[in-house]
Amino acid sequence: MRVLFIGFGNVGRRMARILTVERSKFPGMKPLDDLVTVGIVTRKSGALISPFGVDLEGALKEMESHGSFNEKNRGFCPLTAEEAVSSLDFDVLLELSTLSIENRGEPAISHVRKALERGRHVVSANKGPVAFAYRELSQLADLAGRRFLFETTVMDGAPVFNLYRSCLKGCVVRSVDGILNSTTNYILGRMEEGTEFAQAVREAQDIGVAEADPGHDIDGWDAAAKVAALANVLLGGDVNPYDVQREGIGAVDRRRVGEAIRSGRRLKLVCRAWRDEKGVQGKVGLEELPMDHPFSMIGGGGAVLRIHTDLMGPILVTQENPDLYDTAYGVLADLLSLKHG
Ligand SMILES: NC(=O)c1ccc[n+]([C@@H]2O[C@H](COP(=O)([O-])OP(=O)(O)OC[C@H]3O[C@@H](n4cnc5c(N)ncnc54)[C@H](OP(=O)(O)O)[C@@H]3O)[C@@H](O)[C@H]2O)c1
Repeated sequence: MRVLFIGFGNVGRRMARILTVERSKFPGMKPLDDLVTVGIVTRKSGALISPFGVDLEGALKEMESHGSFNEKNRGFCPLTAEEAVSSLDFDVLLELSTLSIENRGEPAISHVRKALERGRHVVSANKGPVAFAYRELSQLADLAGRRFLFETTVMDGAPVFNLYRSCLKGCVVRSVDGILNSTTNYILGRMEEGTEFAQAVREAQDIGVAEADPGHDIDGWDAAAKVAALANVLLGGDVNPYDVQREGIGAVDRRRVGEAIRSGRRLKLVCRAWRDEKGVQGKVGLEELPMDHPFSMIGGGGAVLRIHTDLMGPILVTQENPDLYDTAYGVLADLLSLKHG
């Protein structure tokens, strides 16, 4: 299996770590031992390519110690992602670049489209392609007889799309709801304990729950992208994050959180997608939930998804304080699915 990495940030590097320096800790990854990395392309940190296989461990060390690939490296190449996807010989595109809400999922959507048009499989950690262009890309994948997989885009490696595809056969999903953004859940939890908003954001960054720029989490965009992905895949919708009614937590203060607690409730940023007479809809908004509501139990950087179907359920998938291993696992699980046909 020859793979092309687009992006080698936190997720790509953690995958590389699991497959190389930490490989002995994870015996289940054996089927991926013959994985050949034909290229690693970033935006401004350089690219490495080799048809015989880039040294993944070496690339990891180089990126971790210098923050970029060295021009003196034998495989160094001034290739852009677009050029790499269009010209290199690979079996699977790993789309691990940054989500762009402003550019409506581009350029990742173009990377995925080109790979599928060339008859390659795609595994995406980037939510853009599934949130903005799922219908087009899944049809393209079907036409090409290839797979377009994205397990880690919602709740990291916790089974969401795999659960739907493999374990809910014959069920029609009527709606989903849940808490899908760890950063905002962590911040609201700390505010319940008396921490000011700005301090809670800093803490979330310090412990690695929030990104250096947590704007997309706080404004509800990350959650809206996840709602769009679920609406498209589980409910058969054709919505994008701009169609999702969206409220963030930027206007929440300690007083509001405290009032909810005093009335025996918890303030949560709840994600919903459902089908009604107008079609498939999505919403991200603040809700006060009773203490014994299953979503109220989700503390820290955890997440939960509840799936309501016509025949079965509701089913809850919960996740306790995920980290980068969980995210990397979601991508590796998709590679294993491809490997096992
Ligand atoms: N981290 C998580 O916990 C998590 C969880 C689930 C899903 N995801 C998603 O997974 C993806 C990767 O996350 P991450 O944490 O690894 O992000 P990151 O640390 O910010 O790394 C992003 C990588 O993508 C590269 N990149 C960005 N735009 C590019 C372009 N146009 N062409 C080529 N390379 C490009 C960057 O290169 P430069 O550094 O050179 O700019 C960098 O190597 C994101 O879409 C994220 O939303 C992340």
